[in-house]
Amino acid sequence: MTKKQYNSTFYMTLAPDMEDYLLEQIPDNCNPKIYTELLTEDNLEKDTEILGVFTDSKVSSKVFEKLPNLKQIVTLATGFDNVDLNEAKKRNVPVCNVPTYGDDTVAEYTVGLIISLIRNIKKSIDKVSEGKFNCHGLRGLDLKDKKIGIIGTGHIGEKVIKKLSSFEVDFLAFDPYPKDKLEQKYSLKYVKKDKLLQNSDIVTLHAPLLESTHHTIDKKAIKNMKEGVFIINTARGGLIDSKALLDGLQQEKIAGAALDVLEEENILSEPETICNTNYNKNKLETSIVSKILIDHPNTIVTPHNAFNSIGAIKRIINTTCDNIKNFTQGNIQNDVTQK
Ligand code: NAI
Repeated sequence: MTKKQYNSTFYMTLAPDMEDYLLEQIPDNCNPKIYTELLTEDNLEKDTEILGVFTDSKVSSKVFEKLPNLKQIVTLATGFDNVDLNEAKKRNVPVCNVPTYGDDTVAEYTVGLIISLIRNIKKSIDKVSEGKFNCHGLRGLDLKDKKIGIIGTGHIGEKVIKKLSSFEVDFLAFDPYPKDKLEQKYSLKYVKKDKLLQNSDIVTLHAPLLESTHHTIDKKAIKNMKEGVFIINTARGGLIDSKALLDGLQQEKIAGAALDVLEEENILSEPETICNTNYNKNKLETSIVSKILIDHPNTIVTPHNAFNSIGAIKRIINTTCDNIKNFTQGNIQNDVTQK
């Protein structure tokens, strides 16, 4: 019996070099077309039935309108806030994500950012690059005995706790769904968010971007924090009000911030789109603030890179192809519209 054929289109922005690996793994009845740029209204393939996107491509209601044959969306990521889920539900299009692929990958990166920040590793490298081989002005802090505030103790937050515990730190944690086992296993106490902010030396964010978590770190939260606090964000840029963070850094209330994610990453990653996309004033202002944050001496900013290890990308592609294979065989798995 001949297999039913599907047309699939992928926007492989974050791992264009993994195109061959995707082609090896994808079921042979999916006829993939691969773009290495962001999905826009101009490069849509009208006959797409299966659409694959990383987190940087927005799948808006307009995209749905222009893809009348769309049957499945696969996100090459855990996060799916780039897809209009209401529209997907309305049209009965499953949105299948990769629930776990890189908890250790992102947690390792988070630990790396924390140490880089408190030990001035970026400044140290810059100094040597400028031809100055001395440690003046580079004195940092020990991690041992610090109080680490973990906002979000899901898959990644829990791994961060596990890895950091070997540094002999104590934890304060906040999550609407606390895990008792973490209090039993580690030097960790679940507390209200305000208490966490008031008492943590380092605050690291591992919550998803939801309406309820948007600007978790805002002006009021920063006012509540310890003098000289360090803030780490490897979750989503929208968890932090960029302007409030910049003010906190400029007033030296915040000693440093390590950010792998920023608000309005698209403008920063593809500045040329600023001319041909209708960004509103607010988005433009936020991206200017993000640019100032990038240039601030007490920040370390990386380009949404925490997930990006060879092992993690292979696991993303494997699960994505498995999501597609199951869908084409009538078994939908990892469909976030059903949650
Ligand atoms: P998860 O779903 O396993 O855990 C999220 C946790 O946040 C859950 O325990 C949930 O109860 C908690 N939470 C929900 N609302 C909260 C609130 N208001 N305050 C505090 N906690 C709240 O997610 P996972 O896999 O641990 O991912 C965490 C974040 O990391 C997500 O935003 C994800 O998009 C991001 N991420 C970033 C990557 C990068 O490359 N920078 C790569 C992978 C994930």
